[in-house]
Amino acid sequence: MSLPHSFTSTELSHLRLTYLNSQNLLLSVASFVLITVAYFVISDLISPIRNYGGPTLAKYTNLWRLYHVTRGSFHKVLEDVHRKYGPVVRVGPNILDVDLPEMHKTVFRTKGDWRKTELYLASSSLVNGKIMYNVFSQLDPDIHAKWKKPIAKYYSMPGVAPMESHMDRTISLLCDQLESRFMGKEAAAGQQIDLGEWILFSMDYFAWVGTIPWLDRVLDKNPLVHIGPPSYGPITARAIKFVMDRVQGLDKEFHDSASPDYLDHFLEAKENYPETVDDVMVISYLMINMIAGADTTASHIRAALYYSLKTPRVWKRLRQELDKAGLTDKGRERPLSFKEVRGIAYLEAIVRESIRFFPALALSLERYVPPGGCQLPTGEFVAGGTKMGFNPYVICRNKDAYGEDSDVFRPERWLRDTEGGETEEGFKERLRAMNDADLTFGAGSRRCLGQHMALMQVYKVVATLAARYEIELVDKEGEWKAANSWFVRFEGFIVRMRKRE
Ligand code: HEM
Repeated sequence: MSLPHSFTSTELSHLRLTYLNSQNLLLSVASFVLITVAYFVISDLISPIRNYGGPTLAKYTNLWRLYHVTRGSFHKVLEDVHRKYGPVVRVGPNILDVDLPEMHKTVFRTKGDWRKTELYLASSSLVNGKIMYNVFSQLDPDIHAKWKKPIAKYYSMPGVAPMESHMDRTISLLCDQLESRFMGKEAAAGQQIDLGEWILFSMDYFAWVGTIPWLDRVLDKNPLVHIGPPSYGPITARAIKFVMDRVQGLDKEFHDSASPDYLDHFLEAKENYPETVDDVMVISYLMINMIAGADTTASHIRAALYYSLKTPRVWKRLRQELDKAGLTDKGRERPLSFKEVRGIAYLEAIVRESIRFFPALALSLERYVPPGGCQLPTGEFVAGGTKMGFNPYVICRNKDAYGEDSDVFRPERWLRDTEGGETEEGFKERLRAMNDADLTFGAGSRRCLGQHMALMQVYKVVATLAARYEIELVDKEGEWKAANSWFVRFEGFIVRMRKRE
């Protein structure tokens, strides 16, 4: 049995203090919760976009989007939200997502009055404590135009053509590696190859931090301490090294001045536009080639190969078309040239359909509604300063633009349906609607600068691999796994390959 205990006065005052402290803490937590809830409720009540439907949590906080983006499934979630609430949905306290292709001409017009949002700032990098913006992340349309001018010609079709010899070297290297590792004498018969691993890099940071852009200032662009996670530091370091090696002539083993590359072009831009282009700008041009050009192009190549293989009718027809064009033997000797393959209509249809079916960039392109506001085609008025997202994945499944079977991979939609009696006029009209909706490479003044370069690579790699190898999916019934972090990463593209006889 315990003895009765009487408290000393010190013990009593200590107890009282602990009680008061815990009461204070409770009160503070309760007040914090109350103020936060009141803030969310009032913000929603006075929000000019409060009448739009969307997930409840998204009305109050961007954490809803952040959560789904970090899970890599935002494109699917958004597709469901649009299905439930219609073409204009609220996906954050101040952001609508819009699936109305008829708006693209207004929003993405070259005038640039629909400015990019701060989402894009996260693709900038920190050099010597200073933020280095680039042509992709620059929000001001005038500065953007000034930065783009010195390099735009190198990305035009004639500007990209001389790059083909560099692409050929890389494609040959890919084929050599695949053949020596998986098709040589030592390779086990029927060995499985993760083809996806051979065609991809990746970058997640930009995707999730872009949903709450101020996080980038705290985590990465913080001048006091770098909190992380890893962002563009390693790529910045590589870009700086490339420039230094070039200037000091230390990269002779892979650089031939007779066959200029993009770094040569950027150094030339520095000479031609000294008032705009300094060394930091050269580094930023180089970086954006690596950041915006690598994952996206690889993702497109993978989608074209995967969905064609998964639809045997498509793969068979592609090979027949290559045979018909007399390219099968040539493809076995060397990478096929762009000139040889660009005219193959069915290959073009595959290239277009694969990026439509799974856009390489599948989070929403964001713009601010200009100060005067805008009238939606649905009749409502949206106030200036509201953010609007346009998601290529969702729009590419728009049935008005792409047909009732937009959920199906069918390259033939890009060809005239002569058997079905489609007239030339009818086809042109259908094609125009599909082109007007297409945001897979963006549109207007901020359209993808590297589109020609990317497409040249996609055509060449897909045609060369199809001409040179027998490729077979190991799991014909299953579906690969897509993780969307702005750029789409795929898992489970396992094949068996052997040289074509
Ligand atoms: C299949 C491959 C590619 C896809 C799907 C793609 C997609 C896109 C999209 C959708 C945009 C517009 C973003 C927006 O407006 O919000 C864009 C912009 C951009 N892309 Fe690409 N891209 C690809 C390849 C490349 C390559 C190879 C490069 C460079 C070598 C590149 C460089 C750029 C640049 C610099 C911008 C910003 C343009 C500007 O704001 O003026 N892209 N890209």
